[in-house]
This record gives sequence, structure tokens and C-alpha cells, in this order.
Amino acid sequence: MSYRTHHCGELRLSDVGKEVKLSGWVQTGRDFGGLTFIDLRDRYGITQLVFDMDDNAALSEQARKLGREFVVSVEGLVRERTNKNPNRPTGDIEIEVRNLNVLNPAKTPPFTIEDNSDGGEDLRMKYRYLDLRRTPVQRNIIFRSLLGLETRKFLSGQNFLEIETPFLIKSTPEGARDFVVPSRMNPGQFYALPQSPQTFKQILMVAGFDRYFQIVKCFRDEDLRADRQPEFTQIDCEMAFVTREDILNTFEALTKYLFESMIGVTLTDFPRMSYDDALRRFGSDKPDLRFGMEFTEINSLAQGKGFPVFDDAELVVGICAKGIADQYSNKDLNELTEWVKRPQIGAKGLVYVKFNGDGSIKSTVGKFFSDDELRAWGQAMGAETGDILFALSGETEKTRKQLSELRLELGRRLGLMQPGDFKPLWVLDFPLLEWDEDSNRFFAMHHPFTSPKSDDIPRMMTDDFETLKSLRADAYDLVINGTEIGGGSIRIHDRELQSKNFKLLGFTPEQAEAQFGFLLGAFEFGAPPHGGIAFGFDRLCSVMNGQSSIRDFIAFPKNNMGRDMMIDAPSPVEEGQLQELHLRVELD
Ligand code: AMO
Repeated sequence: MSYRTHHCGELRLSDVGKEVKLSGWVQTGRDFGGLTFIDLRDRYGITQLVFDMDDNAALSEQARKLGREFVVSVEGLVRERTNKNPNRPTGDIEIEVRNLNVLNPAKTPPFTIEDNSDGGEDLRMKYRYLDLRRTPVQRNIIFRSLLGLETRKFLSGQNFLEIETPFLIKSTPEGARDFVVPSRMNPGQFYALPQSPQTFKQILMVAGFDRYFQIVKCFRDEDLRADRQPEFTQIDCEMAFVTREDILNTFEALTKYLFESMIGVTLTDFPRMSYDDALRRFGSDKPDLRFGMEFTEINSLAQGKGFPVFDDAELVVGICAKGIADQYSNKDLNELTEWVKRPQIGAKGLVYVKFNGDGSIKSTVGKFFSDDELRAWGQAMGAETGDILFALSGETEKTRKQLSELRLELGRRLGLMQPGDFKPLWVLDFPLLEWDEDSNRFFAMHHPFTSPKSDDIPRMMTDDFETLKSLRADAYDLVINGTEIGGGSIRIHDRELQSKNFKLLGFTPEQAEAQFGFLLGAFEFGAPPHGGIAFGFDRLCSVMNGQSSIRDFIAFPKNNMGRDMMIDAPSPVEEGQLQELHLRVELD
């Protein structure tokens, strides 16, 4: 006998009179005199079951004993409800139950399996199988599944081949730490889990596959945040015989297709901005373009007037918040000042200039600047009556970062990031190299296989620090609503240039050979020009759904300590297992 003829989201008025069989979980039960109502839930929806004491007392008694999350199977007749529920697709009907079979009882769940659960994060993660029963989480996981299918459909339609690459590899430096796996058969040696399939996909281009993609797990041992997991998924792609333009166009088309097919949103414009401009205009290499509030540098207007904080600063920079002078009291402004002074932001203070409705001006620096001088700042920033200017000063990089945080916070507070509004952006021309103060050496800003822009190749062979810092890479990021969705680059495909790049990154020729000899070798056997990109699949899911955390789009995510709370990993292993792996654990 089958368990069901229909699922719990399926039956409508047109089914009235049908004998059906449903199976699912008990969501809730309610008793009204002689009538017992049970909401039966499965992945597809909820259907109301009704048991009538007058019709069948024994069955009603059985129904009254059902607890939340019992797994049951029922047979009955579909009938029209007298008291309809317009909020539910099945709300016009109910099942008059003739037969009830408890397939499995359940303990009372430790939190409610409802849209807004009363369970805290830790509890929900420990009982993830219960959390995953909740409709919003199920919706996310289903979205993810469909997004993967649409991605495959689009890319295979463009001649991309999905090719798997290994998980047990040699370390590929991408800026994070590797997770390592000891090899039993090779004592003292380790595999690394891939931070991305970067070198393999390049090798696939050398092998002539021409267009590769993979929806693939990547592993990075880095500090975790809302949009970072130690294992996450990429839509990883590579193409041969392409320019940057070809890649941007292909992946703009993929993004448009996914937004249109998944959420019915037509993305038209993908503006492009250089990395330098993004930092200058928004203080960030992933600006949220859903609102303006662009930066204006006011060194020339604000310095030399006797305000020491500004006079000593490398950069004085401000933003203009439109029309908030009336709604922002002194208390609000003091609170905002405290907000930027929190250690997470780290500003020393906040200068504001309030252009009140009555034409007066109020400023934290009124002592140092005349009204006319402050009006000149206003003019530079496009401020009008009713606006407030905010300015920060200090060392350029830090100040930009702080003002960028303030801009985003104001955007949040003022409701400028509207759900359903999507603003994509290509950020281009990243620096090739990034100086690391701690280790006193350059790192590749993207990764060591990224090509410099062709104009910059002749400038690579120098010891001059500033020249090296100014080198630009043929690298690009796709940013949507302030989140870095994807990143990629045109690659080096020439052995000599790749060796030069390794040298800049501080590798001796021997080290380069030991780590990347296979790639350098491949470049000697006919490597085509190639380039690619990888999208963060989890991030794409969350951004398309207007959410900031990727966790709820991952069936079994890790917590902030990198722990899987359900299976309780990581965990110690048996001594015997360690011995087999030729390992001895000594903790400090
Ligand atoms: P990159 O390191 O920029 O590039 O990664 C590509 C995209 O992957 C996502 N991402 C993450 N998502 C969740 N958790 C993480 N810890 C995490 N780290 C990265 C981001 C990011 O834009 N091999 C290159 C791609 C290439 O050059 O083709 C690479 O991995 O959305």
C-alpha cells in the first residue's frame, strides 16, 4: 500500500469528494468539543485533518493523543471547509479522516517548528534536522537546489562542461589557511583540501576543454562571519581564448538569467568601476550602490583653519545624509558618534554639520569654522537645507573604511537598502600586489596566477616599492548590494611571466618549482590564453533572497567556531587512528 496519493500542499476545492491518502508530520492539534483538528505538514504545505467524535469516537480519541511531529498517514474524504483559511493554499478544504496510522511517534521537540521558532541558534543547530523542517529554512534549501539546476542549464547551454576536480590536493595559496589531511600511506605527508580548484581549472584549459564549470565545495580555514563558512560552495568557471570583456559579458548574462528565472527580477545595468574609484567614492571595494551618499574629500576646504584633528590628517572626507536634519536630534547624533567610536569601527570622533530648516547651522566644529566655511563644505557635498554632513579624518585607508561603515549604517537606519532592489557592479583593475606589514612581503591580492594588466608587465621588474604597489591586475569582482558575489581574473599563461610573478611574491625559483612545478610545466606545452571567475554560491543564494547570513542556505552549516553542532565535530580521534597516520598530538 502506498503512503500517499497526494502531498499536503496539493488539494483544492476541485478535489472535494475525492478519497485521498496523505502522510506527514503533525504540526498542531486543536480540540473543539467533539471535533479535533490536526494540521498535517510535509515539504509541500499543510492540510487540515478533521476528526468527528460523533462519527468515530475511537478514531477521535486516537487523534487527540497525537503529539507534535508524530509521523502519521491518514485516509479520508476531501471536503469543503466552512471556516476557510485564505492564508493557506489548501485553506478551502479539509480531510474528513476515516483511517489514521501512526507511522512513528516523536518526542516533544526542543523548539517550535514554526516560521519564527523560539529556539536559539545553538539549539537549532544541534537539532538541525528539526530546524530544517521549518518552512523558511526549507524554502531556502529548495531555492538553492533550483539555483544549482538553473546555473547548470545556463552554463551547459553555453558549451561549458562540468568537470570534477579532486578534493585531496596539494595546497593552493588563496590567502587563507589550508585544512590538511594526513596521508596514511605516505608517512609525514599531507594533502590539503582545496581552497578552490584554481590550478586544476587552468590545467583543464591547457588540456583543451575550453569552457569548464563546477558547482564545487571549497575549504578555507579562516575567521568566520555571517557570509563566510569554512566549507562553502562556488560556481567555479574557466574559459580559454577569452579577453576580460568576454568573461564579464558571459557572467553578466549568467547573473541576469539567474535573477530573471529564479526571482523574476530583470537586471539591466552592470556599471563598472575601478578599484581606485570604488575606494575614493565609497571607501570600499564592494560598494552598495542601492543608495548614493558618495564620499567628498574636503582637505582643501577643511585644513589650515586651526582645527588640529583635521590639520594633522592625511584625509578629511565626508558624506551628506539628505533630509534628516529635522529627524536627527542631538541625542541621535551623540549616539551615532558613540557608534563610530566603538572598537569595531575605531574612529576617534565624528564631525557633523547640520543645515537646519530655519537656515541656521549647527556643527561640532563651529568653534573652528565660520558658517560660510561650513556652507562651502555643504556646497562641495551637494548639501541643502535639511541635510546633515558627516566628516571623518585621519590616515587615508583607515578613514575611508570607517566612513564606509558609517555610510552603510546610515543606509540601514534610513531605510535606503530596499528589499527587492538589486544593484550589481563590476569592480575592475585591482592592485596586483598587497603589502603585508607582519611578514614584510608582498602577497597576491587575488592569487598568484592572476595576470598583470598588459601595460604593467614592463614595470614588473623593479625593486621600487611604490611602482610595485601601483601595478594593476586584470582582475574583477562582481558585487551585488555591497556583497562580493564573485571574483576572477585573466590568468598568466606564459611560464616566464608566471616565474616573474612568483619572484615578486618572494618565492625562490626552487620554491616555485616545488609548489607549482606542474603548472609551470604545463605552460611549456601549449597553454592557451585563459581566464575565469568563481561565484560564491551560498552568497548568491542569500543576496538574491535579501538575507545577510549564508548559514540558512546551507543544510548543515558550521557555527562561528567552525563546529558542526549536530555531529559534534571536530572531535578527538582514537589513539590507534593517530598511530596509523603516523601522528602524535601534543597540545600546548
Ligand atoms: P575568491 O577567493 O575571490 O576567488 O572566491 C570566489 C568567491 O567565493 C566566495 N567566497 C566565500 N563564500 C563563503 N565563505 C567563504 N569562506 C568564502 N570565500 C570566498 C565569494 C568570492 O567572491 N579561484 C578564485 C576564482 C578565480 O580566480 O576564478 C577564487 O576562489 O563570493
